[in-house]
Amino acid sequence: MKVATDTGPVVRRATGADVDDAGALTAEAYVADGLLRDEDDYTAELRDARRRVREAVLLVAVVPRGGVERGGAPDGDVVVGTVTLAPYGTSYAEVAEPGELEVRMLAVAAEARGRGVAEALMAAALRHAVAEGARRVVLSTIEAMRAARRLYERLGFVPAPARDWAHEHVHVQVLTWTPPDAPGALVEAATWPPLRTVVTSDGWRVGLSGGLTRRANSALPLTRPADVGAAVDEVERLYAEAGQASVVRVGPTTGGAAVEQALLARGYVVASGADVLVRDLDAPWPVDPRAAADIRVAAHPDDAWLGAWLGVKSAGADVPTARAILEGSSAVYLTALDHGRPVGAVRAAFAEDWVGLSCLVVAPEARRRGLARTLTLRAVDVARAHGARRAFLQVEPHNTAAARLYGRLGFAPADRYAYLERALDA
Ligand SMILES: CC(C)(COP(=O)(O)OP(=O)(O)OC[C@H]1O[C@@H](n2cnc3c(N)ncnc32)[C@H](O)[C@@H]1OP(=O)(O)O)[C@@H](O)C(=O)NCCC(=O)NCCS
Repeated sequence: MKVATDTGPVVRRATGADVDDAGALTAEAYVADGLLRDEDDYTAELRDARRRVREAVLLVAVVPRGGVERGGAPDGDVVVGTVTLAPYGTSYAEVAEPGELEVRMLAVAAEARGRGVAEALMAAALRHAVAEGARRVVLSTIEAMRAARRLYERLGFVPAPARDWAHEHVHVQVLTWTPPDAPGALVEAATWPPLRTVVTSDGWRVGLSGGLTRRANSALPLTRPADVGAAVDEVERLYAEAGQASVVRVGPTTGGAAVEQALLARGYVVASGADVLVRDLDAPWPVDPRAAADIRVAAHPDDAWLGAWLGVKSAGADVPTARAILEGSSAVYLTALDHGRPVGAVRAAFAEDWVGLSCLVVAPEARRRGLARTLTLRAVDVARAHGARRAFLQVEPHNTAAARLYGRLGFAPADRYAYLERALDA
């Protein structure tokens, strides 16, 4: 198989169409590395992905069929890697303790290695763990799995030697990963404040900003009221008065399953969502290949910055409202210029010891030249000089390019939320 695309794989839950490919690939990968023989019992277990899809969470990394030369389904995606996730207490969990999620059976097709497939799978596994509210991720590994060991270390896994075990005289090491602290909805909101915030009788904060961005036009369920229905009634009244759709941010730290269920039962739909990624600014940075770029830093969003941001994100946006939301918090605005023409932008906004990075865009014709990486690193330099110690950003779950960019820069998942929305006339 030859992987002809450099945009990286997409990671998703396995479907019936690719489950057998995922099983075959797992067994092949372990045999190819000399970890198992074809006739071993465990090889047969690795091949049985049908059981994994029923009893665990089976993720696959896929690339478009046009981008590879390999057998597989006649249409659609080709599976190039897979990993299995098992919560504590489920049949595939071997060493997980209560509250932990166990990662098992990571495998990448031999021909697809060295292209970030395992990294994309593991990053998705960590995001899944955070979204499920896991307090820790755990896995077992052996000395011979050298490439995987380097990846686990880079992602922030640490040895837990007291939990090591032995299998047929082979020393099996246990590694764990603990999610970093999240900024929380209030810090996030402080870097993107609604034009008007109403606090409901239950202490939920309802953002109203004329509908521009869900971040500035959503309710934050910061408490767990006895009567969730009444709390939602109040939110809906406020949005109806403003002539806007009712939007509520829901996640492990905002409302949890109770609010999510109540909203779904009332006809709300998931309109969008994001993973919150964080990074300690003092932790060592990976090699720093910056693009030669003319980057301007300003204390306010000027026309060039707004043009670069809105040009990519929302061409029809109401500029005075956008400006008013942006100016609601202390921030700096970086614009990348190409011969004087704005081709990229990012915003760095401050709250407590956090910097919130947002609005990262690069004009389509200027992409894949390192501009986004350079803008992010420059924003971090400025934030550090401003006194920030930690950075956070929000990235939509399907934004593969951005997830890869941030993963390479050492950002890790800390939280996830979805915006549940009900149209005004629903
Ligand atoms: C995401 C975005 C900002 C990247 O801009 P860019 O200038 O092309 O990115 P860079 O050239 O700095 O890429 C840095 C790394 O990001 C990753 N990356 C960027 N674009 C990618 C793509 N299309 N597919 C896969 N990986 C990608 C790669 O790891 C890349 O490093 P590499 O080129 O050495 O492999 C750009 O695609 C964009 O503006 N998208 C729309 C807005 C958006 O999604 N913003 C992020 C919001 S959170």
